[in-house]
Amino acid sequence: MSDGNYERKILKKEDRLIVSIDVSSKQEMISLCHKINNRVSTLKLGLEMIYSCGTDIIKTAKSFGYKVMVDAKLMDIPNTVSQAISAITRLGADSVTLHCLGGSKMISEARNSAKKESDAINSFPPLLFGVTILTSLDNNDLDSMGFKSGFLSSVLTLAEMSVGSGIDGIICSPNEVLSLREKLGCSFYIATPGIRLAHDEANDQKRSSTPYDAIKNGADFIIVGRSITSKEKIDEPINIIFSEMERALE
Ligand code: C5P
Repeated sequence: MSDGNYERKILKKEDRLIVSIDVSSKQEMISLCHKINNRVSTLKLGLEMIYSCGTDIIKTAKSFGYKVMVDAKLMDIPNTVSQAISAITRLGADSVTLHCLGGSKMISEARNSAKKESDAINSFPPLLFGVTILTSLDNNDLDSMGFKSGFLSSVLTLAEMSVGSGIDGIICSPNEVLSLREKLGCSFYIATPGIRLAHDEANDQKRSSTPYDAIKNGADFIIVGRSITSKEKIDEPINIIFSEMERALE
């Protein structure tokens, strides 16, 4: 596993909490960078941010001292994804997401491209995280798309194929972490979105749980957006999440 960016055994709480910045202007992003005040190591910049502001926004986040997870959710033929991964590596991404549904060859070629490109620019390759089944989908949604075996079985199958193809980490709902660890062990990272604090709205997330459950069950990272960024006093949810994590790791 390439882990120049994170040492698995010594993950600190500030490494484990990844804040998802889903806003559409540079000013809002900068304001969140200040409010978060480097209490976490990594910001996740995804489709809304990058299509609104362009890829320079990655450099902006890094200039505040954050690592960046580029939530590109890539899925295309292997050659196209490989070229995109090379470009994202040159942009300085610390981690990148792609859809496991792109298949084994797409993942292994992406892995090779990340390594080749990072060697060429003398940096660490970004960690590749495979999105299994979006946490906004439930069994009814999957059924209507032809996935008849349900989300747990689909997540496990996709994760097994992806880990075998060289992915560094798996993205799934907190509810699937335990089964994933039981079936596939601990040789790969798990990051879970779909995190909600008690009293939070579920919004569009259908398979959500708490930071405590996610970490207790074996997730390495939790990805939290609106439960932090929509709050007036950002320190409060961060404090709650950190103390839930510490309790889960006791
Ligand atoms: O605001 P919230 O905490 O729901 O944000 C979750 C973030 O994680 C969003 O940016 C979303 O795109 C992302 N994500 C997800 N489910 C996945 C993969 C990524 O919700 N399976």
